[in-house]
Amino acid sequence: MPASKQMTAPKFAALKQAGRKITMLTAYDYPTAKLLDRAGIEGILVGDSLSMVVQGRENTLSVTLDEMIYHAEMVGRAVEQALVVVDMPFPTNLLGPYQAIENASRILKETRCQAVKLEGGADQAGIIAALVQAGIPVMAHCGLRPQAIHTLGGYKVQRDAERLRTDSMAAQAAGAFAVVLECIPAEIARDITATLSIPTIGIGAGEGCDGQILVVNDLLGMSTDYVPSFVKAYADLAGTIVDAATRFRDEVRGGKFPGPDQSFK
Ligand code: KIV
Repeated sequence: MPASKQMTAPKFAALKQAGRKITMLTAYDYPTAKLLDRAGIEGILVGDSLSMVVQGRENTLSVTLDEMIYHAEMVGRAVEQALVVVDMPFPTNLLGPYQAIENASRILKETRCQAVKLEGGADQAGIIAALVQAGIPVMAHCGLRPQAIHTLGGYKVQRDAERLRTDSMAAQAAGAFAVVLECIPAEIARDITATLSIPTIGIGAGEGCDGQILVVNDLLGMSTDYVPSFVKAYADLAGTIVDAATRFRDEVRGGKFPGPDQSFK
């Protein structure tokens, strides 16, 4: 059988030992996923951030499993090389191991994606272990957990080094193949990264992580609402879109579009 060029969870985890920095971005639709895959991004996350970024909701709590699967199916179909990870939306991993396996297996069966991500560390160790035992690769998510926004009291930097370390270690011991560290001081993230054998993927966690992830709309400069301070925009698509739409509007009003080249004889 010819070697597949598709990234897998074990190959992804092995990038840490190879000393290679890992890149991940979110995607929620077919064309974006195809372009990110073409760029050589190793991991694509269908994040529950789609609730805010795509659906315009105030937090990530309202997105449903069916909505996640709807978007993940498009992403899964587009991607040939990257590992595609899908967020388990609130509260689909919190209802016990049986329900978690049922929900996560729906994601894998209906989307062609290869792994799930869930928020939590020590408190989710039993669920992570059950999913892994069922053959479902799990990426854990520690630090700022947006699904726990009401308990945490806001989108705040998480500074409890002992808890962060305990959560990350518990996720690794339970069988997670990687862990996202969100919004934690760089020094704590560096220390956890040195301790773990699985890769850490940082977002607002400094340069010491094994990899980095950003929300694609933030990367492209097309986020319309709040943008966190740890984001770097590598393009200004919001400006490009408004400019293109304005020129189209002006040309239609001025009788310049459609011209002879865009008309049939
Ligand atoms: O939902 C999401 O996009 C995420 C990333 C920000 C890590 O969880």
